[in-house]
Amino acid sequence: MALYLFCRLFAITLIFMQTLADTSCTDCFIHSRAAYYPNSEEHGTDVGACGFGSFGATVNGGDVSAASSLYRNGVGCGACYQVRCTNSAYCSENGVNAVITDQGSSDNTDFILSKHAFSRMAQTTDAAASLLALGVVDIEYRRVACSFPDKNITIKIDESSNNPYYLAFVIWYQQGRRDITAVQLCETQNFVCKLLDRSHGAVWTTTSPPRGPLSLRMLFSDEEEEEETWLVPVNNIPGDWKAGETYDSGIQVNQ
Ligand SMILES: *[C@@H]1O[C@H](CO)[C@@H](O)[C@H](O)[C@H]1NC(C)=O
Repeated sequence: MALYLFCRLFAITLIFMQTLADTSCTDCFIHSRAAYYPNSEEHGTDVGACGFGSFGATVNGGDVSAASSLYRNGVGCGACYQVRCTNSAYCSENGVNAVITDQGSSDNTDFILSKHAFSRMAQTTDAAASLLALGVVDIEYRRVACSFPDKNITIKIDESSNNPYYLAFVIWYQQGRRDITAVQLCETQNFVCKLLDRSHGAVWTTTSPPRGPLSLRMLFSDEEEEEETWLVPVNNIPGDWKAGETYDSGIQVNQ
């Protein structure tokens, strides 16, 4: 009888383990390490490799991070990760959700968080002080959907732009957990389109951009690049676009 029960239990355990193995693991946490920006600033840096400017320092309440391999040559710019440290004496269960706005690594880290984000992984302000004193901590992380309440996807024209010769811009406030892997600009009159280059980080550029009001097309890809969707905002970029200006696309995504 005892042997029968044992065998049954064993069989059930096997079936259970198989079920676990079959479920895909996109939501699983991955072990790594995290440090924080050594400067005294609370926020991230506005000269981050993604080229986001001040957005890269202060978006998400300053909960931002530099990434090493997750930077993915700039494709990872703007992606959001839940990062939680693993020392149960100091660390909260949820950790912090941070946006990638820079590239960097230090001592086998995947993340160099802003001081603000790093402290947010702690249970209390005392625990935060202890974490900061450690400098580098063991963490686990997973990609999560970004959330920017009350924001539409916004086009920020880079300061280096010069209408009508050279256009460079970054895309702010993209929600969800997909990557923008290509960007086109189309003339609204005769629908001539031009594929842009990712010059560095999140910065899309073109010399001699199309003229007049411009319709933006963004290619959204999931992480495995199995599913790709072109998205066209309702709002055009006006023909008299100016360096430093921001333009509301009028749309937002949730996936
Ligand atoms: C987002 O765009 C819609 C138009 O599509 C507009 O009605 C709304 O006010 C915009 N939201 C913000 C926060 O700008």
